[in-house]
Amino acid sequence: QEDIFKNVVSHAKEYGFIFPSSEVYDGLSAVYDYAQNGVELKKNIREYWWKSMVQMNDNIVGLDAAILMHPTTWKASGHVDAFNDPLIDNKDSKKRYRADTLVEDYCKKLEDKAKKEIDKARARFGDAFNEEEFVTTNARVVEYFAKKKEILSRLAKGMTDDLQDVKALIEELEIADPETGSRNWTDVKQFNLMFGTKLGASADSAMDLYLRPETAQGIFVNFLNVQKSGRMKVPFGIAQTGKAFRNEIVARQFIFRMREFEQMEMQFFVRPGDEMQWYEHWKETRLKWHLSLGLGKQNYRFHDHEKLAHYANAAADIEFNFPFGFKELEGIHSRTDFDLKAHEQFSGRKLQYFDAELNQNYVPYVVETSVGLDRMFLAVFATSLQEEALEDGSTRTVLKLPAVLAPTKAAVLPLVKKDGLPEIAKKIMDDLKWDFNVAYDEKDAVGRRYRRQDALGTPFCITVDHQTIEDETVTIRHRDTMKQDRVKITELKDIIENEVSM
Ligand code: GAP
Repeated sequence: QEDIFKNVVSHAKEYGFIFPSSEVYDGLSAVYDYAQNGVELKKNIREYWWKSMVQMNDNIVGLDAAILMHPTTWKASGHVDAFNDPLIDNKDSKKRYRADTLVEDYCKKLEDKAKKEIDKARARFGDAFNEEEFVTTNARVVEYFAKKKEILSRLAKGMTDDLQDVKALIEELEIADPETGSRNWTDVKQFNLMFGTKLGASADSAMDLYLRPETAQGIFVNFLNVQKSGRMKVPFGIAQTGKAFRNEIVARQFIFRMREFEQMEMQFFVRPGDEMQWYEHWKETRLKWHLSLGLGKQNYRFHDHEKLAHYANAAADIEFNFPFGFKELEGIHSRTDFDLKAHEQFSGRKLQYFDAELNQNYVPYVVETSVGLDRMFLAVFATSLQEEALEDGSTRTVLKLPAVLAPTKAAVLPLVKKDGLPEIAKKIMDDLKWDFNVAYDEKDAVGRRYRRQDALGTPFCITVDHQTIEDETVTIRHRDTMKQDRVKITELKDIIENEVSM
């Protein structure tokens, strides 16, 4: 699995999807740049989301709020007080870790041990094996799972009220520095994840600001502006995509956890009391959206939260099977009226809605859907990257991206660089580029050009050969099946459109 993940990272770089930020200076930790193909894939994911959320829902509108917001926003939202992670320093290695991550890794090890026992027993008993019975009766497995549960519940408690408890837990479990093996920890501290900056030039008049750690607050503070100017009626939603910043302590796993990332969020404003019904609705709707990309149903699962964030009365993650296991991809949160009420309190302004049907004023409840664009990118990219064994014994690397998301929809290839074929190929490209991203390639043998487009995820290759001169037909090769059809040039647009349209 580690190899698969390494492969994902190197493929992303080699084929111009993702580069480490500021690489000439050896990079900047957990910050990445999207390259020529990455930027297209990312844009297509964003558009796919925007279309389904905004364009297809007549009661959801868009917004693009600023990254910089009045500093009181973050007091009201709770981020100044509660957006903390427990942090632990290793005296010897001078490395700094998130305490919760260390403990979670330990729990993962317990789970792996239990799984090993289960697999061993399954191999021994064959068809007679009953997993459900085994995990409740085998003493070792029962112990592993019980221990994991106990540790996680203590961790959750320790994170919220007692930092020393987290430290004690790390000592009790004899957790060592993952890199050096040393157990020499110092005190646990709270660490606020927001990036600070300043507005204004002179030191005494400058105002301390934060880069937003979520896009959601831009929506909350604009709630009444949008509602009034758009004459929106509850229930309605406001959707937004944009950058968010978190000074993550352990930023790792490539673009999974970054310091600068992009969110795609939607806040849905509902009548108080209706929130659970909408929460269920959005859980289901968002899972369907993910499934529509065809990455495989088995790669998704819900994780309902037992421990809730300070603003929520119900929350669930849609988890995805990343190359390093199931992890959070999207969060669906029932945020109650926490945020709007807090902004009312801190601003002294009313943020209420008049419901004409009920003849009543109230602060709406909010159900939020929040998905990381970069995590979506990683999910799509990693799952699509495949090594395929071919009939002739060779292998090919193919990026089986959903066609609708592919950076380039078709590549036009003249079979040879003479006899007027390049001119015809360029003409085809010039006609198609009004509708799609199209590439042109005349270098190398055509077989190698096909392989390169496979690795880039291009769904179609159009080849111009000598027969084209005679009858205005070309071959069109399908990335996934490698099948080639002979078609008229005039048919190309419809064939491509049929596969790639949203
Ligand atoms: N407004 C709610 C909110 O921000 P969250 O669970 O903290 O909730 C939502 O974040 C989503 O944003 C996550 O499910 C994840 O996809 C993405 N995300 C959060 N932190 C991230 C990071 N450091 N790097 C990349 N994506 C991140």
